[in-house]
Amino acid sequence: MILCANFKANKTRQETRAYMAVVESFVSANDISDTIIVFPPFTALDHDPRNVLIGVQNAYPVQNGAYTGEIALEQLEEFGIKTILIGHSERRHVIGETQEQIAAKFRFFADQGFAIVYCVGEPLEVREEGDAALLSYIEKQFEGIDLSYADLILAYEPVWAIGTGLTPSNRDIELLHGVLRGKTHAPLLYGGSVKVENAGEIMALENVDGVLVGSASLSANDFCEMIAQAAELNTEEENN
Ligand code: 13P
Repeated sequence: MILCANFKANKTRQETRAYMAVVESFVSANDISDTIIVFPPFTALDHDPRNVLIGVQNAYPVQNGAYTGEIALEQLEEFGIKTILIGHSERRHVIGETQEQIAAKFRFFADQGFAIVYCVGEPLEVREEGDAALLSYIEKQFEGIDLSYADLILAYEPVWAIGTGLTPSNRDIELLHGVLRGKTHAPLLYGGSVKVENAGEIMALENVDGVLVGSASLSANDFCEMIAQAAELNTEEENN
């Protein structure tokens, strides 16, 4: 399983440090073999990771240069960052990144050998139009994206499920993940209102290889509890 914590614009550098100490100790103490990735804000990227990967939530697709307010490859390299989140719904719908810009970012960081967590997901009005509209909306989010990229992790995050406490039914998650599985061999994450109460159930669904967690990941104890649930699923699988 792959479990990702996306802090968005939450937590200071000091808070991130304390958080990482809790999660890293938990991962060592419990011999966790799942992949754990934390995406802190830019200001907290200077963590020397032990057994948890640190990724960046965004970056500008250049080595360096005149891009006020952005950070680029050179700054990531200084902190040994090799994992990036691309196409997140808040970048698309709040910041206004276009598919063209997202695809350019994808190409640049793929060329640099980054592990890419690429996010797709539909807004509520599209979901309400039915499965055909939903699938054609998601298809457009694959324009310019290499789905055979070796270091790709694909995350399905319905926009209406992010930060709302709403989640699609298990059947709907399996349906969409089944379609995604037909397109790529990349691990498939589900994101959108994942919390301790539903993480285990969601991770047990077919074609779900992990979760991308926002608000509920802000509590280190809750995130560790989700990691424990993933470990339990691995044990169940081994016993079957
Ligand atoms: P929430 O878990 O807060 O719904 O956020 C999901 C998300 O956007 C993770 O990237």
